[in-house]
Amino acid sequence: MLRLEALAKSFGGFAVVKGCDLEVREGEIVGLIGPNGAGKTTVFNLITSALPLDAGRVWFDDRDITGFPTHRIAQAGLVRTFQVPRLFERLSVIENLMVAGPNQRGERFWSVWLRPGEIAREEKRNEEQAWETLRFLGMERVANDLAATLSGGQKKLLELGRALMARPRMLLLDEPVAGVAPRLIDEIADRIRVLRGRGLTFLVIEHKMDFIMALSDRLYVMADGRVLTEGRPEEVQADQRVLDAYLGVA
Ligand SMILES: Nc1ncnc2c1ncn2[C@@H]1O[C@H](COP(=O)(O)OP(=O)(O)O)[C@@H](O)[C@H]1O
Ligand SMILES: [Mg+2]
Repeated sequence: MLRLEALAKSFGGFAVVKGCDLEVREGEIVGLIGPNGAGKTTVFNLITSALPLDAGRVWFDDRDITGFPTHRIAQAGLVRTFQVPRLFERLSVIENLMVAGPNQRGERFWSVWLRPGEIAREEKRNEEQAWETLRFLGMERVANDLAATLSGGQKKLLELGRALMARPRMLLLDEPVAGVAPRLIDEIADRIRVLRGRGLTFLVIEHKMDFIMALSDRLYVMADGRVLTEGRPEEVQADQRVLDAYLGVA
């Protein structure tokens, strides 16, 4: 479903991603791990055109989406979340979901050509989807709270909800449980599994090892801008090169 070919990126002559090849099949949950600074978030930025790439190609669903603008990539069904949730702190939880709906993302412009009845129906659908997402995340109780008042873990959940509002087919999650309390970590893992059961595909960056090892079908390990190795969780855990990379020996 997603294929990265030799992605490369330098900042001011300093190579941060040095030819990243990676593949995710439809319905898989694939982990992307590696020490801080390995280039994982930069890979997400390159996939979604948050940053222009220096070289390489991105394939999604056998379509070359290299360099497509972010909103077109989202329309194609590929959506990412951010390491630090990007919420509207002064909007309520339900409003944060509603403004993330697909009809709020660019196509809004075209609504002047729709009949008023269609606009109203579209908005109703969006609101229903926001409530459905809220229920799915178990956040009904805080629907009307300002996003600013949420705990770190709830903000991560809401960030996931905002990504879901775009009705993606594949999600790129950047550290979905970093700084999240243990009970909520289990809940987030559970939600991700349910979504996979509904047909979503995942590529997940995470440092929390027990979480990512239990969740992933396969993992890629990045170190110093390169894919060091790939395999099933038990294979990766047994790989001495992976241990070395984390210890800074590699
Ligand atoms: N926009 C940027 N400008 C300059 N350097 C960057 C930028 N984004 C990331 N880097 C650098 O690239 C390296 C990889 O960062 P990142 O992809 O965030 O790593 P990871 O997510 O694996 O921790 C780091 O050394 C980081 O400082
Ligand atoms: Mg990162």
